[in-house]
Amino acid sequence: MAELARTLPASWYCSSPLYQLERRAVFLKSWYLIGPVVRFLDVDEKVSFEIAQRQIYAIRVSAATEFPGKDDLKVFDASTGDPLPSHVTPTGLLFAALSPSAPSFHEFFPDLEQLLAKVDFTKRPWRRSIKYEGNFNWKTMVDGYQECLHCQYTHPSFSVYYPPTFYTVYNHQNFSQHVADPKKPDDGLFLYFFPICTLNVYGGGMSSFRVCPTEDPGVTRMEFDYYHLEEGAKFEEYFQFTRQVAMEDFELCEKAQTNLERGVYGEGILNPEKESGVAYYQERVFDLVRQQFEEERDKHEAQGDSSGTDSAHTSRMVKIEA
Ligand SMILES: [Fe+2]
Repeated sequence: MAELARTLPASWYCSSPLYQLERRAVFLKSWYLIGPVVRFLDVDEKVSFEIAQRQIYAIRVSAATEFPGKDDLKVFDASTGDPLPSHVTPTGLLFAALSPSAPSFHEFFPDLEQLLAKVDFTKRPWRRSIKYEGNFNWKTMVDGYQECLHCQYTHPSFSVYYPPTFYTVYNHQNFSQHVADPKKPDDGLFLYFFPICTLNVYGGGMSSFRVCPTEDPGVTRMEFDYYHLEEGAKFEEYFQFTRQVAMEDFELCEKAQTNLERGVYGEGILNPEKESGVAYYQERVFDLVRQQFEEERDKHEAQGDSSGTDSAHTSRMVKIEA
């Protein structure tokens, strides 16, 4: 029997040194969905983001066509003014990385664009964006997004449309596709992009959220962007429905984090079928953190430097799982 995946230990949800290691190991080496190109229609308007304490902005620099293409959109580091790696997909999504040291877009997401080709992302205009903080670690929210065992209990209204019985998650390199009913693979597009972005397209609506870590590992800023074919009452109805689901998840995450911080929960085995999305992304986090830790330890040792308290602390935690 294959070995069952275990969750990350609770300490990984509560430790500042571990989060600093995640910043270097995961966040500075990843790509982020910044938004559909329709979010950036106005020339010279800076749309700002903060991801893992890096301030960045996206800007439309030219308007040769109705919707901005790859030459019209640029992403910059707001602190240095330096350009950052960015990519516009053929059907209209802007992605960016936080550092030139990140792998290329196609190395990071080798099989993403063929899936994105099914949707024209210029069709649904941007309607609204909101953000707020919650008392949970960024992984507490991603854990919940990556499985639907909690859906029937937590989301009674959502479960009417998407019965969790058939819910399946397909894991690809650095992204997961959620399919509510495998018999209807074209019924909406629900994607998680490692590490912190999601995209949810169904009917006339589309939403995207970013699970932005703050410096406090127990606090996360949720950022949502909403798009819809229609404005007015139709949009408001869609907005209220998605807000209801988001607030149900928010409440669940704050309670789960309380258990993680109080030592109620240590770690456990993941369901290989129903929690494969959680197992996939947690393994990516663990592998990248361990790799970073080993590289930094080797560098310190080569320099004869044994003073790194961060390394000593994370060493103990990495050993828990290694
Ligand atoms: Fe949920």
